[in-house]
Amino acid sequence: MLNIFDEEFARDPWPVLRSLREAGGAHRVATPDGPPAWLITRYADVRAGLLDERLSVNLRYSGGSDYEGFAVPAPLDVFQSAEPARLARLRSLVVGELRLAGDWADRAAELIGKSLAGLDGVEEFDFVERVALPLPTVILGELLGLPESEQDSLAAWAQATLAPDARPRARDTLGAMRQIITAVIERGRDGADDTMLGRLVRSGIGGGAADSDELPGLLFYLLFVWYEVLMDMLAGAVLTFSARPDQLAAMLSGADHAVAVDELLRYLSPQVLAAPRFAVTDLEIAGQRIEAGQTVLCCLAAANHDPERFTGPAESNGALELDVRRSPNPHVALGYGAHACVGTGLLRPVLASILGELYTRWPNLRAAIADSAVPWRSGFRHRGPLTLPVRPHGAE
Ligand code: HEM
Repeated sequence: MLNIFDEEFARDPWPVLRSLREAGGAHRVATPDGPPAWLITRYADVRAGLLDERLSVNLRYSGGSDYEGFAVPAPLDVFQSAEPARLARLRSLVVGELRLAGDWADRAAELIGKSLAGLDGVEEFDFVERVALPLPTVILGELLGLPESEQDSLAAWAQATLAPDARPRARDTLGAMRQIITAVIERGRDGADDTMLGRLVRSGIGGGAADSDELPGLLFYLLFVWYEVLMDMLAGAVLTFSARPDQLAAMLSGADHAVAVDELLRYLSPQVLAAPRFAVTDLEIAGQRIEAGQTVLCCLAAANHDPERFTGPAESNGALELDVRRSPNPHVALGYGAHACVGTGLLRPVLASILGELYTRWPNLRAAIADSAVPWRSGFRHRGPLTLPVRPHGAE
């Protein structure tokens, strides 16, 4: 059985993914937790897998001794456990609510500017510690209208779980997450303001009932899952642009930064794997017979660098080079099909305004060390730099 998920994979997954993709089919791999799963890597197979109704994200279809993933406990698991009709209703309710109020770009610029201001005059700092880690608290605080006490709890959670020296894994901090989620929902119910949170609470998710499991399930993604991906995206973008000033200039001269954001999503693929899928019945995928109950991992990162689907030169490690003008960009970094990310209307403009603001302030922002020296979180489903020393005014 293949054992590919180590620290080196988090930093540079591309050589391994290229060879698995070239071999085609489904590969039996050991997961970091131990149990095995089927891994599929080609774009066409990954898209087909994400659309296949015989593969379910619902844990109740898992069987045998395959990898099951982290079982998100109820009531936070609604996106995994809802039956298809309820999931479709829930998704259609929230997609519209997870949008930004019109003037958010200006407000974001102001907030980001304020958080970066403390760094004026600092010659070199860790971008993860000083920017990527604290910034999502400020952004979420504004979007959801969180008072300082809740922002403090969120920041404390992030520090405890996502900082380089953090001990517990995010999955070990569910108690703290639940407390924050409950406090945030109560706040939303009390307020009549037009924050995103107020709109979500009033939108009729779960029939508007306070004890509904739908709103906590959504906030679990919005507050915690997104927190980590946003961090990974920001640090990954700065590292990537450091070695590609021409691409940075192309993004800054382009009218719509969101096009570059999509390409960064493709290139970095911060969520390497889609949620585990369990075979509801015996089936064949990518030419491989899969038994009912076995687990299939669709590798979004491998699909996003498949030369059968994307044009452009390849780097020596097998990654397909960044092209911030790529359009159309049918990447699967946000999933595809019935479980595709519901936050896309939010994350694109937020990331676009953060990147715009960051490089307006520091046009010469660059990593202070070589790519190969940057340590990566040895995640499995997610990847991002653990620390990233930068020089805001460029290399000497
Ligand atoms: C850069 C940021 C983000 C990335 C890369 C990302 C990525 C993804 C991916 C790949 C999936 C599909 C998983 C699968 O098919 O197994 C997903 C699902 C999901 N995302 Fe995101 N996401 C991001 C931000 C957000 C935000 C801001 C929200 C807001 C709540 C969100 C909420 C969700 C939810 C609720 C699902 C599950 C949908 C379902 O199962 O029906 N995500 N995300």
